[in-house]
Amino acid sequence: MTAVPHDTAAIRAALLAWYDAHARTLPWRAPPGAATRADPYRVWLSEVMLQQTTVPHATPYFERFTARWPTVSDLAAAEDADLMAAWAGLGYYARARNLLACARAVANDHGGVFPDTEAALLALPGVGAYTAAAVAAIAFERAANVVDGNVERVVARLFAVETPVPAARPELRRLAAILVADDRPGDWAQALMDLGSGVCRPKSPLCLMCPISPWCAGRARGEPERYPVKTKKAARPHRQGVAWVLRDGAGRVALVRRPAKGLLGGMVGLPTSDWTVDAPDETPPVAAAWTEAGAIEHVFTHFSLTLTIRVATGQGDFLWTPEPEALAALPTVFRKALERALAC
Ligand code: ADE
Repeated sequence: MTAVPHDTAAIRAALLAWYDAHARTLPWRAPPGAATRADPYRVWLSEVMLQQTTVPHATPYFERFTARWPTVSDLAAAEDADLMAAWAGLGYYARARNLLACARAVANDHGGVFPDTEAALLALPGVGAYTAAAVAAIAFERAANVVDGNVERVVARLFAVETPVPAARPELRRLAAILVADDRPGDWAQALMDLGSGVCRPKSPLCLMCPISPWCAGRARGEPERYPVKTKKAARPHRQGVAWVLRDGAGRVALVRRPAKGLLGGMVGLPTSDWTVDAPDETPPVAAAWTEAGAIEHVFTHFSLTLTIRVATGQGDFLWTPEPEALAALPTVFRKALERALAC
């Protein structure tokens, strides 16, 4: 059983005071202690974007999205393909489809106003436990337990949780909940996030700068970076495939719309073979004088991929797209492949 530091009030006060002085200024955020709350639309959008990527990577996307679609009703009225293209590079494309489904539900079923409780947020399409809690806390000052990877790490160290993740997740949630209170829930959630990203870092935590290190059991045990304890991961399988870069000789490249379901579903892509552990079927999409243009490597969550690139000039029934537009709209794996082909 994990020991629980009993002085939760002191821990909270120390971290909130640190946040008052050191909160990051972020475009979706109200400053600490602000009288006006953050806009729920902006909070929701930022939280969805930030689920699998970093603040520096997501911020320009956030700025572009909110300039183009300033309200949830504007986003609800977006064309699917425009939204998918604007999302390109953020990864996890199912999330972009869910984003649109959620915006449309808020616009159509809630009069364009986000519901203000965790339970009602959770009922929106594509909104999971994390996003519902984050929006409830940050936009509506509800005492929700907001637990992302950063928060898990802070809590695992603070309480020196010896159970390895993922099995420790329920315990980490329970421990995080002990620290949640009705006072400043939005600031509390974001203080934990900022601490996790800037101080209680995965590697080389800056314990000397940490406002809650006096209570940190992980630090007291002398090796905070050992937490959260991890089980050994199975190696990622490796797959291989071929991508065909067909150009028309007039600055356009042949793209295809990927099937709605599955990896990168609904996105535009280059025509490719299946991605297989064994040698892939190398039959090209059209007959042409194909030449080899090297290969790129890409790592997905569940496998890594070597994609061999072949290039030719030709014609066929494709989504013919000007090359700069294609580079902007393609998911990262295909953008890398196209960049490689254009450099040849
Ligand atoms: N990561 C996820 N959500 C965040 C937020 N609201 N502020 C900073 N980092 C975050």
